[in-house]
Amino acid sequence: MKTAYIKYDNNKPISHINKEIYGHFSEHLGRCIYNGIFVGKDSEIPNTNGIRNDIIEALKEIKTPVLRWPGGCFADEYHWQDGIGKDRKPILNTNWGGVVEDNSFGTDEFFNLCEMLECEPYLAGNLASGTVRELASWLEYITHWGDSPMALKRKENGRLEPWKLKYLGIGNENWGCGGNMRAETYADEYRRYATFAKNYNNSDMIKVACGPNADDYGWTETLMQNLKPWHTGALSLHYYTVPTGNWDKKGAALSFDDKEYYQTIASTMFMDEIISKHSAIMDKYDRDNNIRLIVDEWGCWYDVEEGTNPGFLYQQNTMRDAIVAGINLNIFNNHSKRVMMANLAQVVNVLQAVILTDGDSMVKTPTWHVFKMYLDHQDAELVRTSCAVPMLDEEGKTIPMVTSSVSVKEGKTFVTLTNCSLSEECEVLLDSESGIINEATGEIICTDITEFNDFDEPEKVFIKSFNDFKINSNKLIVKLPAHSVVSLRIK
Ligand code: AHR
Repeated sequence: MKTAYIKYDNNKPISHINKEIYGHFSEHLGRCIYNGIFVGKDSEIPNTNGIRNDIIEALKEIKTPVLRWPGGCFADEYHWQDGIGKDRKPILNTNWGGVVEDNSFGTDEFFNLCEMLECEPYLAGNLASGTVRELASWLEYITHWGDSPMALKRKENGRLEPWKLKYLGIGNENWGCGGNMRAETYADEYRRYATFAKNYNNSDMIKVACGPNADDYGWTETLMQNLKPWHTGALSLHYYTVPTGNWDKKGAALSFDDKEYYQTIASTMFMDEIISKHSAIMDKYDRDNNIRLIVDEWGCWYDVEEGTNPGFLYQQNTMRDAIVAGINLNIFNNHSKRVMMANLAQVVNVLQAVILTDGDSMVKTPTWHVFKMYLDHQDAELVRTSCAVPMLDEEGKTIPMVTSSVSVKEGKTFVTLTNCSLSEECEVLLDSESGIINEATGEIICTDITEFNDFDEPEKVFIKSFNDFKINSNKLIVKLPAHSVVSLRIK
């Protein structure tokens, strides 16, 4: 059996793991909002002000810390004034399926949803097809206390108190669907929009500039040369895991062979390299870490399920996705000095969703279970580790067999591990440099790699307790099964 060595030192915290790393993304896309989260007040599906109760419960269970809305590409075509009050104007969703939406889910509904979830709202503003005035007045509507024209409109619509807004994105993928801009042009546009983006209820609002696509390091370099911490709190980064690397034939969610599995894992591990390289560029211009990185779109992107609308990006979710989630969350934790937030794409019924719905049924996907298992990392302190991990050479891909992250909170150490091998278990030697280990408890997700939760069998992939480990003084010797995600709480 191969062995992985992980030494950690509780007395050496390196960075805070912002709970927002465990964030989600909800776009007007397919059945994410309409017929997903939002069914309307008159629906027979149990709801609160139109929002499905079962979804609220499931998202609260994984302590959803932040939700991004309304897009994605949709954001740069969204006009918020059409989605408030009694008479709403329909909108043609040109990016996703060409459907006409009635705008019954708008600003008020989104902020109410965030209040129900007790999470931070993260707005994506329209830079490409909107105006500076439109964005400025949106913020006035949301955050102004007094009798300003927009605050009065909000009050007329039934909300007296302003909402709190901590994160504002200015544009989305402006190198692509958001205007096909050059980095220089975007930087100038961003500065203009940011100048007038005033929050009347929170002077610490974090303004997020559209950062790079995957490994476009030139975009980051130009933005860092042109943006300053007094008007930019973070750059976003988008990177999707596409198994084959071919956007025209990405690979199926449910049927994949070993080769495609290892391609998926290698592709997802590229996240570590791109974060490291973007961070190195950011370090050159911002040694004090004032401009952070937000990975506000990540996850697996497969071919849509047969028979579904190709513009709706509906895909199933297997044990492979659980491993992908475990790997990425470990990567984000380990980069938490620079990475302040991440948002899985997308929360319900789209791409690597944590929740799938069909009529009044709902399932929690394997990915949901990983978010549940990793809860203790939220707002914990990442500690220093040194790792020596066996490498796998599979199907032409060389990848580390095990990934990990270790944090400490309230005197307890929390370790999360993934074993990426399809066939081999791995012994993990966890060595505490800070003293004796007294006790430990564990959890695991491990099923056949193609197993998934479906509406007629919603609990085939779920969390079980795990105790295949021994304590030996200051060491924990763990037997990590093939293709598994494990968490350990150590005292
Ligand atoms: O998440 C789906 C789409 O992927 C988003 O709208 C866009 O930002 C990205 O290209």
